[in-house]
Amino acid sequence: MRILFIGDIVGKPGVAIVLQALPGLRRRESIDLVIANGENSENGSGITPSIYRKLIAAGVDCVTLGDHIYRKKDIISILDGQDNIVKPANYPADAPGKNWVVVKSETGRKVIVFSLMGRVFMKPVDCPYTKANQILAEMPADIPIRFCDFHAEATSDKQLMGRHLDGRVTAVCGTHTHVPTADEQVLPGGTAFISDVGMTGPHESILGRKIEKVLQATLTFRPIPFDVATGDVQISGVVIDVDPKSGKGQGIRRIKINEKQAEELEDEFDD
Ligand SMILES: [Fe+2]
Ligand SMILES: [Fe+2]
Repeated sequence: MRILFIGDIVGKPGVAIVLQALPGLRRRESIDLVIANGENSENGSGITPSIYRKLIAAGVDCVTLGDHIYRKKDIISILDGQDNIVKPANYPADAPGKNWVVVKSETGRKVIVFSLMGRVFMKPVDCPYTKANQILAEMPADIPIRFCDFHAEATSDKQLMGRHLDGRVTAVCGTHTHVPTADEQVLPGGTAFISDVGMTGPHESILGRKIEKVLQATLTFRPIPFDVATGDVQISGVVIDVDPKSGKGQGIRRIKINEKQAEELEDEFDD
């Protein structure tokens, strides 16, 4: 079984390339399940019900988020009502959204998806490592395929989560920094791991925002809106091979899809 995880989708360019390339990518890579982090999909910050629906219609099976989760408050009804979108599980109990959900792959296999948030340079939240233990204990034992998006800043925190959950989940994939790391591996216990999968959006940018705007704000301390950039749009993600019986990760590789490749995938799918 094969899972595709797509890193933080940033703004219109990020959403557009996913909508364009995903149907073809699913087919070309024989993907059974797609999980995508959508925390930056509405103009760089948050997600709307309309974008959520478009991503699902294009072939995303489950949406994870992060620190920008509630920036567009209309998403709250979706977070409360739908079973294919999660909040960071170590957010307060009363924060809108579900700690974990069960989604079904194309071949009918059940997969548990959850996310956790780090505590370095982020809002104070409950201990993600303790929370992981708590929610794993709640999960049905007969669903061994379990995916964790760890939305965090520090690579050391992410490696620690990988080791903490090694052998207990299928994959721990990091998000939030928007910069991919080259440490993808299957850990000794069978958990596929990467510190950060990178972002899906304009790469001619600073983390998806216009370079000049970020530079001006940094040099002058003036309040300048960080507009979403436009150049060199790419999908960043990982493809994870899974043994469906044991839920163990068998392989993990990074993927990058640029604009030209996205067009080819679109054409291929139309044929
Ligand atoms: Fe992000
Ligand atoms: Fe984030």
